Amino acid sequence: MWGIIGTWEMVLEGLREGGQKLEESSHVFDAIESTVKTVEANELFTSVGLGGLPNEACELELDAAFMDGKTLSIGAVASIKGFLHPVSIARSLMDGPFNNFLVGEGAEKYALAQGFEQQEMVTETAKEKWLLHKEEVKKGLSPYLGHDTVCVVGLDKQHNMATCTSTSGLFYKKAGRVGDTPISGSGYYVDERIGGAAATGLGEDIMKGCVSFNIVQKMKDMSPQAACTEAVKELTELLIDRRTKAGDISVIAMNSDGDYGAATNIDVFPFAVMTEKVGLKLLTVNDKGEIKECLC
Ligand code: GLY
Repeated sequence: MWGIIGTWEMVLEGLREGGQKLEESSHVFDAIESTVKTVEANELFTSVGLGGLPNEACELELDAAFMDGKTLSIGAVASIKGFLHPVSIARSLMDGPFNNFLVGEGAEKYALAQGFEQQEMVTETAKEKWLLHKEEVKKGLSPYLGHDTVCVVGLDKQHNMATCTSTSGLFYKKAGRVGDTPISGSGYYVDERIGGAAATGLGEDIMKGCVSFNIVQKMKDMSPQAACTEAVKELTELLIDRRTKAGDISVIAMNSDGDYGAATNIDVFPFAVMTEKVGLKLLTVNDKGEIKECLC
């Protein structure tokens, strides 16, 4: 049995390649990394990697993480500038007992020393969008729009499971702002004896719970779909109870049998899945838990 699941429509092409790798018996690390790298390298996807959403100073600061479901090793980077594939830097940080999560200049120094190449990541289109947005903010619009993270959970034929995430975070964020994407338990979690889960949405609210860890624990006793639905409902209700409103929260999950689920508190959340059982599917889930298949 093998399977891979990822967030948003942007993941589809990368996920197809990642799924093919799993079908050909690749290790899950290689399949999920290649899926996210495809998204990071495509400047048409404006919330991840090249051409991502710039911060207040028109700099592109990226967050990414990688987790091994066997050893529970984690590698993560936050606020890293000038590298095309933060997910690969995060993967390399899983090795070793210390220094697994690096931020800013320290992460950049590490990446250079490891041979990752630096490049300009703010595209002309991103600059134009930033200038336009700056004017809109002056007129009173909320500065913080857009926060779609690519998250992937995978299971290979050898029963290894892993997850990884990558994002440019909130548009127009303060320099140094970090969301849930590199934070284990909130943005992602995987234990290959149970399954893996990951989240996308408003990091500031997702981090007020440990939604990904919660989903994985729930999957001990229920299907991935039931676990996702319950976990999103619990966090959303908690936030509304304590703070009167909840930000956007959408999640995906897969268990160690390759069964999957997704849930959201927004109108429609697209996600993609490819497994030995069901093939490749682009799906949506809405805030009522209704899942629909799209053409792909
Ligand atoms: N969920 C991504 C972020 O808030 O940065």
